[in-house]
Amino acid sequence: MPRMMFNKLVFSVALATGFAAAAQTADQAWLRYSGYDGEIVVPPSVRALGQSALEQSAASELQTGIRRFANSGAGFTASAQLGETVIGTAAEVQKAFPELRVPASLKTDEFWLHWTIYHGNTLAIVAGGDDRGALYGAFALLRNVTDPSLNIRSHPAMPIRWVDEWDNPDGSIERGYGGRSIFFEGGNVRRDLGPVAEYARLLASIGINGCNVNNVNAAPQLIDSDHIKQLARIADSMRPWGVHLAMSVAIASPQTIGGLSSYDPLDPAVKAWWAAKVSEIYILVPDFAGFTVKADSEGQPGPASYGRTPADAANVLANALEPHGGVVLYRAFVYNHHADWHDLKADRARAAYDIFHPLDGKFAANVIVQTKEGPIDFQAREPVSPLFAGLEQTSQAMELQITQEYTGQQRHLVYLAPMWKQVLDFDLRADQKATPVKEILAGKSFHRPLGGMVGVAGVGQNGWLGSPLALANLYAFGRLAWSPDLTPEQIAKEWTRQTISTDPQVVATVDKMLLQSWPAYEHYTGPLGTQTLTDITGSHYGPNIESSENNGWGQWHRDDHMGIGMDRTVATGTGYTGQYPPEVAKIYESLKTTPDDLLLFFHHVPYTYKLHDGKTVIQYIYDSHYRGAAEAAELGTEWATVKGRINDKLYQEVRARLEYQVGHAIVWRDAIVQYFLKQSGIPDDQGHAGHFPGRLEAEDARLTGYKVIDITPWEDASGGKAVVCGDLPAIAFHPGDVSPSAAPVPISRIEAVPHAPCSAEWTYTGAAGRFNVAVQFFDLPGGVAHFTLNINGHPAADWLADATLPSRRPNGDNSTRHTARDVDLKPGDVLSLQGDPDKNDPAALDYIELTPAR
Ligand code: GCU
Repeated sequence: MPRMMFNKLVFSVALATGFAAAAQTADQAWLRYSGYDGEIVVPPSVRALGQSALEQSAASELQTGIRRFANSGAGFTASAQLGETVIGTAAEVQKAFPELRVPASLKTDEFWLHWTIYHGNTLAIVAGGDDRGALYGAFALLRNVTDPSLNIRSHPAMPIRWVDEWDNPDGSIERGYGGRSIFFEGGNVRRDLGPVAEYARLLASIGINGCNVNNVNAAPQLIDSDHIKQLARIADSMRPWGVHLAMSVAIASPQTIGGLSSYDPLDPAVKAWWAAKVSEIYILVPDFAGFTVKADSEGQPGPASYGRTPADAANVLANALEPHGGVVLYRAFVYNHHADWHDLKADRARAAYDIFHPLDGKFAANVIVQTKEGPIDFQAREPVSPLFAGLEQTSQAMELQITQEYTGQQRHLVYLAPMWKQVLDFDLRADQKATPVKEILAGKSFHRPLGGMVGVAGVGQNGWLGSPLALANLYAFGRLAWSPDLTPEQIAKEWTRQTISTDPQVVATVDKMLLQSWPAYEHYTGPLGTQTLTDITGSHYGPNIESSENNGWGQWHRDDHMGIGMDRTVATGTGYTGQYPPEVAKIYESLKTTPDDLLLFFHHVPYTYKLHDGKTVIQYIYDSHYRGAAEAAELGTEWATVKGRINDKLYQEVRARLEYQVGHAIVWRDAIVQYFLKQSGIPDDQGHAGHFPGRLEAEDARLTGYKVIDITPWEDASGGKAVVCGDLPAIAFHPGDVSPSAAPVPISRIEAVPHAPCSAEWTYTGAAGRFNVAVQFFDLPGGVAHFTLNINGHPAADWLADATLPSRRPNGDNSTRHTARDVDLKPGDVLSLQGDPDKNDPAALDYIELTPAR
């Protein structure tokens, strides 16, 4: 049939192309240099005092930036026009301007920006403790081009400021939502590394100094001699921006790549192999940053195979790297994923501390233990990992996830800086002293020389992160690693002004949206510390409450008909609370003092348990999900106010994404609420749960061709049922479907039997009025189904189901909606929905919902 289109398919187009066009550059993120307010005080005449590549990068960036500001209409102060901007190390600047008092004590990566009149000429000085400091100073200057009293001295809080990319040699990216790899393709490093250099430029602008380019589920072949040569090209591309190459290695490499009979870290032959391998790397990459290690974790081999400890394994690598100045980031993400769900004392949250705390003091000086911010796995909310307080003689880095694996996969707007900031500021009270996580990482609390933050970035070829507003998270990560005292509000403001607009109304709106987004997501997914309640054995995206239970993965929340939550107390539970220093342990041990937002992480309580404000747990679950979905809707309404004030392409892309998010928040709300209504049997005081005014179920319609099916999990469809046109695609199970960790493995397309269009028909019986008609359908990736909404036989809307959403079965991953607005209805009118299936997309339909149009 002809594919008539009545509505713009902005959303699907946006998802396919992203905001950035084909030639991806850093300018398409925040380095646009077009937003300013006031006159530019920075002289456009720029001079680097030294010859180093980093100073040359700094000078060219300043020239580019200032030129762009000028091209976008910025005016310069008279003194700026006559003056000069000078870049150099502190020593170079002092030598060139002997009468200037340049701070002599600038450290590595530190910078000093100073505006002065020298011998009658305006001088803007960018001085670095070293040439990388000067480069960081240049970017800082470009953030402050209109500040007439410029005098900034700034140094990074912590030395390790890395991003980890989870890129696979074949070009796919584990948990990446920004398209294909900028580093690899077809088993090799990509020929065109232009985007890598642009990425390094972006990273340098926020002070990131290391980039680990391959998946922690390491691809062993990358350490063979041929691939090391290829990796050296990546290092070359990043070097002018002061970003050093790092890589993930598999502990079994001496055996798998080296052909040794063992990979026992204490075997002299294994030690020698690593030492030789590291030397080989440093010949080609003299500034190689080091290795990241995932071992004895989720199927990765490790020292446990030989009865050795993580310290044994880390130290072998560290000793090999030490003469060259490299470091090892050994991940504390080590746990048993075959835990016994029936054992009420078993607890994955305990694992990192149980394994690593006893090893404190046993790691070589150039080992940094890299710990995820919470004890489980990047959930929407977790308590801070107690391990940060449990390693006083070991340097530590905190791993955060920029790519939004469990937080909406970039399809949902979730600005993570407020979450990270809570973690950084959290005072663990180690040794009964103030020990906020940020000070532990900075090495201040326990006087450790190395430490820092590592962000799992997941950038790809599609606008870096696949979604324009998600870039605020990458920006925020770098800014916090440099300066953890910055607030999420300050960072949001900086980012918005550089990326979207300096128009105060736009800045205020976007910043408000960013700051609302994480609480909203938490409200409509998994509140009270239950974790995200998503499908943990598959996509990690849509709702699937039971997937966390009854398996060995340990992301349990233990709900039953009476109550919910994991008892992690020392008194009656797993004992996890006892891993915190006593003052914090005491807070979490007691029901009374545990904050509500972590209640169910630490305690098992009846649904009728009352929170601090007197509301029951079950009522909170109902209310927070309705509240979260309403908050998501507000994001859309707020964005509408910037229309006409910003670039229209960006406006339309974000508008379409938010519209999708608003619909998916409803999927989440309904799934969680109907599940717990059934599970608890306790009605909602507010009368929301279980009541859907204006909703007409597909299974209750007059169906032609469509057949009724049960949806799994049942809570992902309204009433647990949907209709499909033709057969559901056969599903071949593979490791990606059953492990929370493995990336989905593509399966070949299964031949679908062609099917004629089907229809579902309802007769409208309410009062005459104007309505918005939301059609809730399942947009499966196996084809592009076509839907048409007819009123009394006349088409009112039609659209294609061509988004790219996870899962090959209809469920909460791909349940989505299309809304036809301002539809006039009177009693007796017939609404009919025609679904035209395509290949493995059976045009599955859940319900339609009529809401009065405003
Ligand atoms: C998560 C993620 C995996 C990843 C793992 C890790 O579990 O889903 O894809 O490998 O974290 O951090 O190692």
